[in-house]
Amino acid sequence: MEARPFSRPLWTASLPDRSAVKNDSATLCPRRPRRLRIALLSRKESLYTTRRLVQAIRARGHLPVVIDPLACSLFIAPGGPEIFLKGRALARPDLVIARIGASITQAGLALLNHLELMGVPTLNGARGVAQSRDKLRCLQILGARGFHVPATVLAQPGAAIEPLLAQVGGLPVVVKLLQGTQGVGVMLARTREELETLLNTFGDLGHAVLLQAFIGEAEGRDLRVFVAGSKAIGAMQRRARSGEFRSNLHRGGEARPVALNADIADLAVRAAQAVGLQIAGVDLITSSRGPMLIEINSSPGFEGLEAATHLDIADAIVAHGLLWLSERASQVPSESTDSSAVPTS
Ligand SMILES: Nc1ncnc2c1ncn2[C@@H]1O[C@H](COP(=O)(O)OP(=O)(O)O)[C@@H](O)[C@H]1O
Ligand SMILES: [Mg+2]
Repeated sequence: MEARPFSRPLWTASLPDRSAVKNDSATLCPRRPRRLRIALLSRKESLYTTRRLVQAIRARGHLPVVIDPLACSLFIAPGGPEIFLKGRALARPDLVIARIGASITQAGLALLNHLELMGVPTLNGARGVAQSRDKLRCLQILGARGFHVPATVLAQPGAAIEPLLAQVGGLPVVVKLLQGTQGVGVMLARTREELETLLNTFGDLGHAVLLQAFIGEAEGRDLRVFVAGSKAIGAMQRRARSGEFRSNLHRGGEARPVALNADIADLAVRAAQAVGLQIAGVDLITSSRGPMLIEINSSPGFEGLEAATHLDIADAIVAHGLLWLSERASQVPSESTDSSAVPTS
């Protein structure tokens, strides 16, 4: 596991530690380390994950700025894009860490695109967020790259049920909305009647849904692996409460820490990278045919994970962001280096 426990004073050897970041920075600007402006895209500072990231940024000597994506006005003009907040131009952040809730996906993506056009490094980027938010797109990418996912088929409104059901191995079957989180929009149809009712309801609303093989042998358990860059920084097993197949903590699931084996850690990192994410909550389920990827979350909360593991996930995310920035700074050719967008300290 790559994040440090809360109680331990400093860094585990495998994390980019504060002195390492300072040393890298010192090479770029030998005089004085600059305090970076690290923007958190989040509706509210009071949210646990946002609050923890604010603490972690401060603890590393940088300046956190919480920006509500819905409060930003995205200005487009021939001179280049700008962002205004309450009528004032936003000073360009050195790094953005995006916490885009499912309910503001569109506004969040628009803002991320704007920031990327301004040359601001974003964790995660718009492409990865968009790809992971769309469950069909995410599974398409993972399946096409050879990752194991449960057999899944897209059911268009009004489509004949039998052939679709046969493709995913029959009943019971999981029905999923194309977008959704925290278990909302994930249903189990045990009988043909239940399935018809669900498909007719969504079909009447004009919504296509996913039909997915139900992995019953998982017995309501799944694995959440938190990825930052090339590392799995924490993991927990979640178990659904009795009478429920969804293990989401918001649905009453329970979490316990797990030590990851290297294969699963590697699988989670590769899956996140395939979808274009540096920061990701990767959900896996154990089937009789081995681990299968269920979904990849691009703004994973970590309250439950920190509580279960006592790891400092917030700091590991910030540490990854700083490391990524210093790597970018050393890679960008000098003539195109934009000193306001990469750390010079
Ligand atoms: N195919 C499946 N078979 C068995 N359980 C599943 C399956 N798909 C999802 N689940 C359970 O439902 C939970 C929520 O599904 P998921 O696709 O991750 O949706 P959400 O985005 O709402 O978290 C999973 O964490 C898992 O416990
Ligand atoms: Mg999930």
